[in-house]
Amino acid sequence: MRLMILVTGATGNVGRPVVDELLRAGAKVRALTRDPATARLPGGVEVAHTDTLPLTGVTAIFLNPAVFWGGVDDLLVRAVDHRVRRVVMLSTSAALDPDPSNEIAAHHRAIERAIEESGMEWTFARPGEFASNALAWQQTIRAGAAVRGPYAAARSTPIHERDIASVVARALLTDELVGTRPVLSGPESITAPEMVRLIGEATGRPARFEEITPEEARTEMLAHPHMRPGVVDALLKLRAESVEHPPEPSPEVERVTGRPARTFASWAVDHAADFR
Ligand SMILES: NC(=O)c1ccc[n+]([C@@H]2O[C@H](COP(=O)([O-])OP(=O)(O)OC[C@H]3O[C@@H](n4cnc5c(N)ncnc54)[C@H](OP(=O)(O)O)[C@@H]3O)[C@@H](O)[C@H]2O)c1
Repeated sequence: MRLMILVTGATGNVGRPVVDELLRAGAKVRALTRDPATARLPGGVEVAHTDTLPLTGVTAIFLNPAVFWGGVDDLLVRAVDHRVRRVVMLSTSAALDPDPSNEIAAHHRAIERAIEESGMEWTFARPGEFASNALAWQQTIRAGAAVRGPYAAARSTPIHERDIASVVARALLTDELVGTRPVLSGPESITAPEMVRLIGEATGRPARFEEITPEEARTEMLAHPHMRPGVVDALLKLRAESVEHPPEPSPEVERVTGRPARTFASWAVDHAADFR
């Protein structure tokens, strides 16, 4: 039977490369978006409005929690009714944080639990920080201004969205990752000032980083319309802790895909046009 994959959040950072990988592998793809008219999804994809949640014929779902802030219970009940076999969730390495006040961890773990209890096969891809978070610096870098951020010495292991997508596609298309929670990261532990410098090298226009206090950062982050205080606090806590305890790169991308995870320098080259 030909696989039919429902991709939620298909226009997202990870959704687009997941759609590309599935098409390349010959799977049928049904992609969900809130705006099919402007989604710019590739030919050959069946595009549907997110609210319609069409599950007929679907064999597996790529579940992006950004689409289901209201909860996944309805989706899971309907998926079981439609005999969907498998759910691959875009979770987060923050799910490993035992701190009960970490809202990001609690949100993702609750969804993971609901999927486990649904009886469907599952894989929870648990990436750390996305390299694509650096797209938030686009306007600043284009304008030639300094990128402002707290904890200049904080380290992260940013992961290229195409590496997350490769692991997700493997989990959707083969049985190799059923029942696993691969923690995914880029291949190196680097600071935000280093990331800014690498973007400057990729664009050919030097880019600068300026450290601000955590309080200033909190105020700036809360100015974004969808940022909740609990999420901001969890993100700042992660940064602060990584100064003393820098995260170790995970070997999982290479183990699953058979090739090394892409560096931040290569991400910057792939996205140089976004910063020019
Ligand atoms: N950013 C990170 O560093 C990071 C790290 C680890 C885990 N994660 C997790 O990864 C997941 C996805 O993050 P992301 O930044 O990749 O997502 P995203 O690209 O911002 O969103 C994915 C897509 O979901 C749809 N969407 C967004 N908000 C929605 C809403 N309120 N209702 C319905 N649809 C909505 C949008 O598609 P349409 O506009 O086409 O509908 C969007 O393209 C989150 O659960 C996040 O916690 C993120």
